This record gives sequence, structure tokens and C-alpha cells, in this order.
Amino acid sequence: MNFSPELSNEEKKVRECLDSEFYSKNDKAHMINHIDDVWRETCELINEHKIEVRREVVFLGVYLHDIYSGPYRKVHNVLAKDFVMNAWRRDVEYLNMLVTLEEHELQQVAEMVYWHRSSLHPEEDWFTEKEWELINLIRAADKGRPIFKIWLERARKYHGDEKDAVENMKKHFLEKYVPEGYIWKDEEYKKLYINDYITFQKDLKEWLKNN
Ligand SMILES: [Fe+2]
Ligand SMILES: [Fe+2]
Repeated sequence: MNFSPELSNEEKKVRECLDSEFYSKNDKAHMINHIDDVWRETCELINEHKIEVRREVVFLGVYLHDIYSGPYRKVHNVLAKDFVMNAWRRDVEYLNMLVTLEEHELQQVAEMVYWHRSSLHPEEDWFTEKEWELINLIRAADKGRPIFKIWLERARKYHGDEKDAVENMKKHFLEKYVPEGYIWKDEEYKKLYINDYITFQKDLKEWLKNN
């Protein structure tokens, strides 16, 4: 591994400030541990695919992407982009890493935080090559690695108390996770996790056969 998930002291400082100003006020699913997970996943993808990226850009894109995810859920990506573009107005020390980026890199961070939401459907020709790469990286890491056992566990927790829990889970899996399922319509996501995808389909098939 050459792109280390270990944070430098400067990165730790940024993380702490964002946590106390934003993430500690978010809903449970979008607190700092979610961001740490996305960061680790992003680092793994960078290493697996030998993606060349400037560390500051990826770090800031990941650590800023959900700052407004709590009270402003519906527009949290719009607000985060606005935060990035206007960070220089704030004049706070912990944003130095952001405001000293080159303009095209600041733009890359802005595009990452704006397009991270899986409900949005960006198209390749709207972006520079690097922006497109970074957008798909954060979208994939935010959704997470497709590991059937883990997603099954999550679904079990979610459907736990329902009378037809297994039937409901099956319905959900057939809509979302089978090869034609909507989660794989995001081809860039599938491409980045192609090996996991193949194992996932095997495990899913097995589960559907037995349930
Ligand atoms: Fe988000
Ligand atoms: Fe997120």
C-alpha cells in the first residue's frame, strides 16, 4: 500500500475541526466514523487501481462531502460545494489546506462533494478526466464495497421485526442487487469493484437458492 489511510498531523487537525463544527451535529449515519470509513475505502481503491491523485484533493473531498448532511440533508451536496468555493472568506486556519490549492484542484474538490450522491447521474463529458475519476472514486467509496455477507446483515437488522422479513429482503435484493439491479446501473461503481461484484453475485445466487 502506498496511499496510506494513516492521517498526517495536519490532516488530523482538519478532521478534528470538521468533527466539532459539523459532523458531531449530524445524524448517526453521517458522523465522523462514516467519513473515516469512506476515507479508508477511498485509499483502498486508489491502491487497488493505482489511481494517481493529489492527496490533499482526495482527503478534502472525502472529509468535506457530508458536512451538511444533518439538518440540510436534501441539499447537503449543494451546500458543501458552496462551502468549498467560499472557504477563503472564512479565514480560519484549519482550512489552509483547502484555500491554498490550485484553482483547478479546488474545482476538483467542489465536484467531488457535489456529485458524491448516488441519486445524481453525472455524465463523463461534463468534466475533466481527473474530475471524473475523483467523482467516481468518492461515489463508490461512499456506497461502500459490495460484500454480500455484510449487506445481508444490514438488511437483516433493517427488516428484523417484520413478519415477512425474508420475503421483504428477497424483494429488495431482486430489485437492487441482482445483475440487472439498479445499484449496478452505475457502471463506474461496478467497474471499480468488479472482483467484489463477481463474488457478490455468487453469494447472492446461493442465498436466493436457499431462501
Ligand atoms: Fe452524502
Ligand atoms: Fe457520505
